[in-house]
Amino acid sequence: MNNINPKLVNQFIKVCERAAYGASIFKGKNDKIAADQAAVDEMRNELNKIEMKGKIAIGEGEMDEAPMLYIGEKVGKNVGEELDIAVDPLEGTNFTAKNLPNAISVLSVTKKGGLLSAPDTYMEKIAIGPDLPNNVVDLDFSVEKNIKLLSEAKNTVPEKITACILKRSRHDKIINSLNKLKVKIKFISDGDVTGVISVGDPNSPVDIYLGTGGGPEGVLAAAALDCIGGQMQTRLVISDNNEIQKASKLGIKNLKKKYNISDMIKGDVIFCATGVTDGEMVKGIKDQGDFFEASSFILHKSQKLSKKITNKIKK
Ligand code: FBP
Repeated sequence: MNNINPKLVNQFIKVCERAAYGASIFKGKNDKIAADQAAVDEMRNELNKIEMKGKIAIGEGEMDEAPMLYIGEKVGKNVGEELDIAVDPLEGTNFTAKNLPNAISVLSVTKKGGLLSAPDTYMEKIAIGPDLPNNVVDLDFSVEKNIKLLSEAKNTVPEKITACILKRSRHDKIINSLNKLKVKIKFISDGDVTGVISVGDPNSPVDIYLGTGGGPEGVLAAAALDCIGGQMQTRLVISDNNEIQKASKLGIKNLKKKYNISDMIKGDVIFCATGVTDGEMVKGIKDQGDFFEASSFILHKSQKLSKKITNKIKK
């Protein structure tokens, strides 16, 4: 069977729900390490209940850096399908620590070998929504050229384009170019998984995502865009020998390769995100005494599944 068994979807939702709940206990407590650790513990515990031969393709780091959910760690009950899993138990550690919107627990799953195992380095990213000509934008084009081509493809003008970007000084040059073009900018302070996915959200004004963020987050966002439609191009940013080694350990030979979604995600894929704090994609965890309420966004490519659900779960 080339597709992932759809029956597993509910179990992956549970994994994210539990991780989000774990992190939510630390909302506003100014302790991002504790919030992350709680999400990791819950996520790992729940993953190990699933009947699968799972392997962490993207996780908390290499074996010597992370005791749990390290790259290559086997998860699940060691029976059933062989799956590769990308996890970010807490995407938005700052958001959680400061009780700000848009913290999520997120994962994506493919059959064995279907996920680019991106190292924990930076990654350049450019993404646009569905129903546009192939390769209309490119990481190697200038900001001006990308915005011009995108506006033409959308039958509009740069002034009416909205670009989403992480507010970081490394992006000043891109931001200056966008300002000159009078593009509307939606700044985010963290959380570029949600930022990238917003290009494919019909309820979001974002037309294009630009900028450099985490490599693992790039692959997670690619998994979602693969299901909802949209284009994304990425390239690792490798800055020192240590990062060269990290990439080569993961089998990456060409460090300058530009990845399209089909290079990052192969075959069937599941994406699941549960809100920790209220956000654009999903609502946050609501504590209700013996229960908690968790809202998730779930995608399963082969099943054309795209849904948002809220579950009430016993603590
Ligand atoms: P964490 O939740 O792990 O702190 O990551 C948040 C995040 O904003 C990601 O969404 C993004 O890819 C990355 O950090 C950007 O890194 P930096 O803060 O170093 O610019």
